[in-house]
Amino acid sequence: MLSKINTLSGYLYEYQKSIANPEDFWDSVAQQFYWRKTWDKVVDWNFDNLDVKWFINGKVNITENIFEKNLFMLGDKPAIIFEANDPNEPTVTLTYRQLYEKVSQFANVLLANGIRKGDRVAIYIPMVPEAAIAMLACARIGAIHSVVFAGFSASSLADRINDAEAKMVITSDGNYRGAKSIEVKAVVDEALETCSSVQKVIVLERTKTPVTMKEGRDIWWHDAIKGVATENKAEEMDSEDMLFILYTSGSTGKPKGVVHTTGGYMVYTAYTFRNVFQYEPQDIFWCTADVGWVTGHSYIVYGPLLNGATVVMFEGVPTYPDVDRFWDVVEKHKVTHLYTAPTAIRALMAYGTEPIQKHDLSSLKVLGSVGEPINEEAWQWYYHHVGKGNCPVVDTWWQTETGGMMMSPLAGITPTKPGYATLPLPGIQPIIVDNEGNELKGNNVEGNLCIKFPWPSMIRTTYGDHERCINTYFRSFKNLYFTGDGVKRDADGYYRILGRVDDVINVSGHRLGTAEVENAINSHPLVLESAVVGYPHDIKGQGIYAYVILDSASQNHEADKIKQSLLTTVTKVIGPIAKPDVIQIVSGLPKTRSGKIMRRILRKVAEGDVSNLGDTSTLLDPSIVDEIVSGAGLKK
Ligand code: WT7
Repeated sequence: MLSKINTLSGYLYEYQKSIANPEDFWDSVAQQFYWRKTWDKVVDWNFDNLDVKWFINGKVNITENIFEKNLFMLGDKPAIIFEANDPNEPTVTLTYRQLYEKVSQFANVLLANGIRKGDRVAIYIPMVPEAAIAMLACARIGAIHSVVFAGFSASSLADRINDAEAKMVITSDGNYRGAKSIEVKAVVDEALETCSSVQKVIVLERTKTPVTMKEGRDIWWHDAIKGVATENKAEEMDSEDMLFILYTSGSTGKPKGVVHTTGGYMVYTAYTFRNVFQYEPQDIFWCTADVGWVTGHSYIVYGPLLNGATVVMFEGVPTYPDVDRFWDVVEKHKVTHLYTAPTAIRALMAYGTEPIQKHDLSSLKVLGSVGEPINEEAWQWYYHHVGKGNCPVVDTWWQTETGGMMMSPLAGITPTKPGYATLPLPGIQPIIVDNEGNELKGNNVEGNLCIKFPWPSMIRTTYGDHERCINTYFRSFKNLYFTGDGVKRDADGYYRILGRVDDVINVSGHRLGTAEVENAINSHPLVLESAVVGYPHDIKGQGIYAYVILDSASQNHEADKIKQSLLTTVTKVIGPIAKPDVIQIVSGLPKTRSGKIMRRILRKVAEGDVSNLGDTSTLLDPSIVDEIVSGAGLKK
C-alpha cells in the first residue's frame, strides 16, 4: 500500500514540498509502483502548445500494478463485491486472483479477436464486474478503452465510436435498472448501422432479453472465453501511451474525447485515493458512480484496485426496491467508505431519516461527495444522519479532464466546512483570475479557477483534435489550465466551487453542454431555433430549461404534443439524461444586434427571478423579453 499523509501538519509539509519541488515529490510517489523501466525525467511541459509528459520514457503496465504487484499478498482478498440490482440475487465476490484470471483471460479474448496495442475499444455495458474486467483487459494489452455510459442513445454511442474509430464494442444483451430492464444490444445494433470501423461485438448475457446476433461480427462473452487461458503477459506501455478516452461535454460542439495516459494517471489516481479517503487495508469502499463516468474509472476501478482495496460495485438505483437501498447495501457489505453525488443525497433526504434508522450503518468511517456543488443542507444531513456525526465528509472537486481529485479535505485530517472542497491536494497549484486573466491574490476573492502547474493525471489531448483541446482549456488565460468553474477563496484560504461559468450544465451530476441539447432540439422538424439554460433545481442541482421557437407549420399541432415529441427527440439524440425539465415555446429569443443570445436574461427567467434583468437596451427587439417573462407566468 502507498505511503500516506497522517496529520494536518503532514499535509502542509507535503503540500509545500510538492510545490517547491514537484519533480522530487512525484518521483518519490512514483517509486512506489512497479515499473518495467523507470523514467529518465519526471515531467516536461508546455501549456502553450499543450505538451505535457510525466515519467518520461518510463515503461509500465497499469494492470501489473494491480495484479502482479499485489497478488502475493492479496490473492484471496476481495477486489470486487458485486451487488446486483435485485437484492435477492446472490452477491458475487471476485478476489484479486479471480479478477486477475478473468482479466487475463479476457485480454486473450481481445487478442484472439484482432485487438492490438493502440486499438480503440468501445465499452457500452451496465454496472457489472465485466465492465471492470473489460477495461482492465484493454489496459492489459495496451488497447485504449472508451467507456460510453449505457444510458446514452444509439446516436450518441455512434458519434463516440466513430470519433475514436473503435474496432470493437463490448456490450450486454440488456441492463437492469430498478424496476426496469433496458435494451442495450439493440441500441448497439442501431448505432453500428453508421459505424464502419467496428469489426467485432462481444455481448455479455445479463438479462437474457432476446437479441439478434450478427454472423461474423457478434460473439457471446461466455462463448468467447471458453477454453481460453487465464494467464496473459502484460504489454509493456510507455508512460505516455494512451490508457483511455472518455467523452465529455463542453460549451460548444459535440462531446470531446478526453485522453488520459498510463503512467501519470496511475500514480495520481492511486495517490489521491489513498490520501483523500485515508483508505486502510480492511476497509470496504463503495463509490456509487457509473463506470461510464470518470468517477467510476478513477475511483471504482483504477485508484482503489491499485491500492489493493475492496470495492463494492452496485448495479441498481438508490430507490429500488425501496428508498433504503443505499443503507441496506452499506449494512450488508459493511461499507466503510461511501462516495456519492449530492443529487443522490438530496433525493434520499426527501424520504427523511426513517429509511436510515432501519439499518446499522456503524461500519461507515468516511463519506465522500463528488460531481457538483453540495448545498449546506445536504452536507449537514449527510454528516449528521448518515455519518452520525462521526464520519468526515470529503467534498472532492475534480473533472473528467483532471483524471483525479484536485481539491478535497483529507478524511479526518483537514478540518471541513460545509460546501467547501477546502484545500488543494499535494501537487495541485490553483490560481484564481478575473476575466482579464489577472491573478486575484490573497483571501476573500472570487473568480475563474485555473491551475498553473501540470499534475500527473491531467488531460493530454482531445482525441483526434489537439487544437480543440488547446483552444478549450489553454487559450482563455495564458499559460493556465482553465477549469470552466467559478470559485471563491474565503477568509481562511478555503476553496468553495461556485459552479460552471461557461455553457456547461450539471444535471444530477451529469455534465451536458447547452449547445448539445440545443442541437438535439433543433433536429426536430418543427423547430426553428432554441436556447437552453440551466436553472437551480432542488434535487438535480440544475434543471434544463429550453426556450423553443417553432416554425409556422407547427400551428396545426397542439403545444403539449409538440413538447412531448421534443422530449422524445432529445432522448433519441442524446439520452434521457438530457431531457429538458421545462420547455417554453416562444416567438423569438433575446438577441443582441450582433445576433448573440443574451443568456443572462433566459437564466433569470428560468430561475423565476425577473426583478432585475439588467440592461436590455442592446437587444434587437427588447419587447421579446416581456413576452418571454409573461409566457413563463412571471411578472416583472
Ligand atoms: C464538473 C466536472 C469529477 C467527477 C465527476 C464530474 C463539477 C465536480 C464537484 C464538487 C462542486 C463539482 C464542476 C466540474 N464538480 N465535483 N465537489 N463541488 N462542483 O466530472 O462530468 O467532468 O464534471 O463537475 O463544475 O467542472 P465531470
